[in-house]
Amino acid sequence: MVTASTPLHPAGPAGGPQQQQQQQQPSPPPSWGPWGHRLRALNSTRVHRMWLLMCAAGLLVLAQYRVSTLLAAVPAAASPPLATGRAAPDEQVAGVVVAGGHTPAPWPSSVTMDTLEEAVRLSVERLAQNDDMAAVLGARLLREVASHLQLHAPTSAPADCSQQCADVLPGRAVPPPGTDPIYVITPTYRRPEQLPELTRMAQTLLLVRAAHWLVIEDAKEPSKQIAQLLERSGLRFEHLTAAMPEQYKKKRGAKPKGVAQRNRALQWLRANATAGVFYFADDDNTYDVAIFDEVRITDGWEAVREAVLWRVERRSSVSVQIRSTKRVSMFPVGLCTKFGLSTPVVSSAGAFVGFYDGWIGGRKFPVDMAGFAVSVKFLHMRPKATMPYAPGFEEDGFLRSLAPFEPKEIELKADNCTKVMVWHTQTKANAPSPPLDMAKYNQTNLAVLKTIIV
Ligand SMILES: *[C@@H]1O[C@H](CO)[C@@H](O)[C@H](O)[C@H]1NC(C)=O
Repeated sequence: MVTASTPLHPAGPAGGPQQQQQQQQPSPPPSWGPWGHRLRALNSTRVHRMWLLMCAAGLLVLAQYRVSTLLAAVPAAASPPLATGRAAPDEQVAGVVVAGGHTPAPWPSSVTMDTLEEAVRLSVERLAQNDDMAAVLGARLLREVASHLQLHAPTSAPADCSQQCADVLPGRAVPPPGTDPIYVITPTYRRPEQLPELTRMAQTLLLVRAAHWLVIEDAKEPSKQIAQLLERSGLRFEHLTAAMPEQYKKKRGAKPKGVAQRNRALQWLRANATAGVFYFADDDNTYDVAIFDEVRITDGWEAVREAVLWRVERRSSVSVQIRSTKRVSMFPVGLCTKFGLSTPVVSSAGAFVGFYDGWIGGRKFPVDMAGFAVSVKFLHMRPKATMPYAPGFEEDGFLRSLAPFEPKEIELKADNCTKVMVWHTQTKANAPSPPLDMAKYNQTNLAVLKTIIV
């Protein structure tokens, strides 16, 4: 006979449904606020979608009422200059920023209504796209409507967007005071894939506030192509060179690639940097901008949009990003080694318990180059820290050189290492192109293109 206390097989109607109900109602994440429990209770049925649509409609009415009240209360001259037309509200924020010096235009209420409606419509559309995400989007919808209401109140541009902010791309603008740099250290060498990789990376870094890019060529002289790319990016950068020492160049087998360049960057940091964090970011990886910044992973691509528009929320619960690194932080790297993954192993209690990597090789820190970040202050506290010329052991050697520092002291990022925000993508190696027939093409565009192509 089955007893009533057997957890997996409830004895009868008295015990069963009650238990199931308890299992189906985990407490909502705190970020959902006072609406959380209602959204959660409606989860897993289509009813919640209907509810949210109704809610959106209700909020729209409320919003229109609120905005018209505000409009009535404020003289037109005090209103901020807004772009006309049916642009999305956030584009208007960008418009305010870029057109900062223009004469304030009257604020036509129809435009405001239109854009507000548009905002809600977009939110509802997003909501309709995916049932599973409906609850999450619903919570965001509430936030968005709330923020749009605030946005359309007659205030000036956001405080951190003064005249310095002539360009809305965070990586190009002067960082707001108090934002320490993230030094991104990228060794590189001339090869067919170099320019596309660096182009992709530059455009990732444009979305990162206070990024400072250290690009170190494995060359005696800086190349014109890289100089132009860096200039054109508008990022803050240092264009350095450091050639691999001859003895390693001649060596057979695996070479210690990137070591001379990273050590050159460390030397630059010791001489020029006082605060912030540095990160060894090779040019062939893929980086989610959220790994750098103060945006929680749950916001996903929303982070990109917000970052571009200088509307990154300052949140207190910083857990994902490397910006808050005190000494050494680590996080998972995808597409790495035969395991497809290289990461610290973290217990359910949130404690570091070891490493997971396709190749341990007797390393104390079996991690990928892109899997950790270090604070500049900590580097200054370890004047001897350096990267050894040891193929395969560069990361381990560098992290060991930060001694005293033990694996258990690692700061775990990416939500206790549960998110992959860096990928060890590797471009297929391309053969160099054949020489150009100069007799035939000297007077054409090909002569120019050939200086770009390897
Ligand atoms: C990490 O895990 C611990 C223990 O489970 C938890 O208290 C903490 O909130 C987690 N942090 C994040 C960012 O998920």
